[in-house]
Amino acid sequence: MRVDGERIYIRVYDVSDAPAVTNAINSSAAELRVWLPWVGEKISLKYEEEFLRQAVEQMRESRAFSFAVFLKHTDELIGGVGTHPIDWANFKTEIGYWMSTAHSGKGYAVEACVLLLEFLFSELKLHRVVASAAEGNTASLRVIEKIGFAFEAVQREAFLIGSVWHNLRSYALLQDEYRAQRQSLYEKFLGGTRPKIRLA
Ligand SMILES: CC(C)(COP(=O)(O)OP(=O)(O)OC[C@H]1O[C@@H](n2cnc3c(N)ncnc32)[C@H](O)[C@@H]1OP(=O)(O)O)[C@@H](O)C(=O)NCCC(=O)NCCS
Repeated sequence: MRVDGERIYIRVYDVSDAPAVTNAINSSAAELRVWLPWVGEKISLKYEEEFLRQAVEQMRESRAFSFAVFLKHTDELIGGVGTHPIDWANFKTEIGYWMSTAHSGKGYAVEACVLLLEFLFSELKLHRVVASAAEGNTASLRVIEKIGFAFEAVQREAFLIGSVWHNLRSYALLQDEYRAQRQSLYEKFLGGTRPKIRLA
């Protein structure tokens, strides 16, 4: 399954992506580690293969969805976007994302999140999607605001990095809010074209 945007596409992970993912994470470890507790000094290929095996299993059962982000013109894997476990009783989930340092600051995280939202709201028909980031994570907060999420709350000291507690800012987007603004998201971030979802 893949969703195509203007400059990038997202595709569900396969275990065979492990070397490319490991390489992208390890080459950006110093920057990713600041906000992603699961990134240590280096991750191993074995760790990543096991992570992807679990991700594939979760997708087979529609429990959660994890996508790799690729550049369209080179097919290079440059990041990841996905969901936490989906609460199917309430049609809601939370999203997460990372981008390799070599490709950050080019708007790819915003584009990848719009592709993910299209899948979550149009294909899975979710009702509510949450995104949250630590108060100091300016780049992530900027991504969340650019894709139209509404601020809801500060969760005090809800996020532990190393030995430091951070406040988390939580945002959410509802399905009807996404529908009302998606054309403008396509125009701003996808060159005006609607994302193409390929289920096969
Ligand atoms: C958050 C992250 C995915 C953003 O990826 P990206 O591809 O650089 O994001 P984009 O280019 O789409 O947008 C980033 C926005 O943040 C801004 N930004 C980036 N770093 C910034 C900084 N240090 N201070 C202020 N703004 C910053 C960019 O200027 C851009 O906004 P603009 O288009 O209005 O100028 C990436 O920085 C990352 O992987 N961070 C570590 C992992 C992480 O924090 N994940 C999210 C956990 S909640």
